[in-house]
Amino acid sequence: MSFDRSLKIAPSILSADFANFGQEIEAVEAQGADWIHVDVMDGHFVPNLTFGPPLCKAIRKHIKTVMDVHLMIAPVDPYIEAFADAGADVLTAHLEAGPHIHRTLQAIRGAGCKAGLALNPGTPVEALDYLLDMVDLVCVMTVNPGFGGQKFIHSQIAKVEKLRTMIGDRPVHIEIDGGITPETAPLMRKAGADVLVAGSAVFKGGSVSDPAPYGANIRAIRTSCDTLV
Ligand code: DX5
Ligand code: ZN
Repeated sequence: MSFDRSLKIAPSILSADFANFGQEIEAVEAQGADWIHVDVMDGHFVPNLTFGPPLCKAIRKHIKTVMDVHLMIAPVDPYIEAFADAGADVLTAHLEAGPHIHRTLQAIRGAGCKAGLALNPGTPVEALDYLLDMVDLVCVMTVNPGFGGQKFIHSQIAKVEKLRTMIGDRPVHIEIDGGITPETAPLMRKAGADVLVAGSAVFKGGSVSDPAPYGANIRAIRTSCDTLV
């Protein structure tokens, strides 16, 4: 996985057909997805439950791009090895998930994954002051985590602008997660993001038997950002 700041669209399989992940992933990749975003929820850190390492391992063989695993779980550390073994390329933990995020990030890199750090909308970006050299990706949540299809929180634009300045020349991705549409995507691209997660905006209107809408939805997000510069 090489680093660059080109725009990457990462469909979240939270909005895919849960009975058909393998084909859904192949369909969105064929339709232009750059990464595949996998939302792991524990019903404790967030008020919703999804899936764990066995599911991640099962879908890994259908992913040709990047497997981007977003852990909305607490604690994190006991599960890092299992998600690394399942084939995660990026493993993202929440800063709010426990008292020892520094140790968690060390453990993620130690397990051979790129280390991602997610911030809830209420968490200030200054919390990253002593962590930026330990991360490969910062995920700014633009909704409160737990559900797809929520409304984008505009206060996070200023946060991403600050974060972009703080990161400087470090090879750290800025990922945005929640409420991304062709309307909100350019705001975040302009603020400095390079990875845009989108669930409902990518999967709406399509299916594995009719995947063309996935492509149209991905292109709509991409071209909304093209008109920026
Ligand atoms: C929210 C998840 C997101 C979610 C995004 O807890 O982390 O990845 O699936 O869904 P949309 O794009 O529908 O807001
Ligand atoms: Zn997510």
